[in-house]
Amino acid sequence: MPDLPLHPDTVAVHAGRSDFGALGVHAAPIDLSSTNPLPDILHGGDSYESMATGGHPLPEGGNVYARLWNPTVARFEDALAELEHAEASVAFGSGMAAMTAAILAHTTGSGARHIVAVRPLYGGTDHLLDSGLLGAEVTFCDENAVARSIRPDTGLVVLETPANPTLDLVDIAAVVAQAGDVPVLVDNTFATPVLQNPIDLGAAMSLHSATKYIGGHGDVVAGVIACSEATAQALRRVRAITGAVLHPLGAYLLHRGLATLPLRVRAQQAAARLLAERLREHAAVAEVLHPEFSDPRGLVGRQMSGGGAMIALRLAGGYAAAELMTGSVRLFTHAVSLGGVDSLIQHPAALTHRPVAPDARPGADIVRLSIGLENVEDLYADLDHALTRAQAQAPAMRSGA
Ligand SMILES: Cc1ncc(COP(=O)(O)O)c(C=O)c1O
Repeated sequence: MPDLPLHPDTVAVHAGRSDFGALGVHAAPIDLSSTNPLPDILHGGDSYESMATGGHPLPEGGNVYARLWNPTVARFEDALAELEHAEASVAFGSGMAAMTAAILAHTTGSGARHIVAVRPLYGGTDHLLDSGLLGAEVTFCDENAVARSIRPDTGLVVLETPANPTLDLVDIAAVVAQAGDVPVLVDNTFATPVLQNPIDLGAAMSLHSATKYIGGHGDVVAGVIACSEATAQALRRVRAITGAVLHPLGAYLLHRGLATLPLRVRAQQAAARLLAERLREHAAVAEVLHPEFSDPRGLVGRQMSGGGAMIALRLAGGYAAAELMTGSVRLFTHAVSLGGVDSLIQHPAALTHRPVAPDARPGADIVRLSIGLENVEDLYADLDHALTRAQAQAPAMRSGA
């Protein structure tokens, strides 16, 4: 890469390709080896030890074993780190595996065993933190209570912005200031590195469910954390020990998906903005939840360059309308997940946020929309048809139920 400050669109196309010239290739090679021939016991062993403790393979010892290192995965990691303005990134077999590694790396071995988590969060993250499965104690709070929730044994602060599914925004820099020396992990899945770079705002880690916008085509389950090289070492150590690796075919698809990430996100964002405005006028909609519609601190434009491509609707007809609407769409697919080229609709309280404690669960009147790359008029027509049908048939029209 030329030694110039490049625009993100250029980085997205070129990052992670620095060895292509030497290899004489124009597309990323996919290395599927599960094991690698070793020069001798001594060098193989040294390289193994380096990677099992979170380091890189040693040139004389090679990659040894694919649970420890894979060059196709490493190229994707280099590219994602560059897009996130981070020194390094570490890829995992899912977003939840990435979150698990972050928790283990920050709450075991150092005396820390407490986490502060800012709600709302994705239901799976909330479930993992609330379950006690990883042995950490968790204090859930809102973003203004982070400083007073921190204890001497707090090892990590977790937040998500925009949050899944209500699109609430959290002021990253303000939470970083409250956290002091405690590292802050930002789940950046909804914003993507195209719209928001948490590392620039002082966060220690930017986590993605790469299953979503990073992959963008609904065909890979993966997670990735951008961070400093020191943090990457701790995360790679957990990954090597627990085996939470990403398969190289997935990494290849994610790396390929990065090239179109800025284009996809901006087009999806523009369509979401248009739909959000129009849906505000729809009689069946009590409220449109969109980052730009409840942003008194002006975080859109400062922390995040746009509102993103997710919308949530509070339906005037409550749960009954949500059930009818999700069953009436024709272009939108009723499915969990988000961030792909095709539009999805789902009911968080019944699906993605079902494991969340009842007092923190999103309302039963909320449906979540992930806006894809279809024609925006076609999308509006589909939503209008489903909303109108839901409104006409929902037995009890309850405002904000
Ligand atoms: C914001 C957010 N973070 C993390 C995850 C977990 O990622 P994965 O499903 O890849 O494990 C999801 C999944 O929906 C998510 O929406």
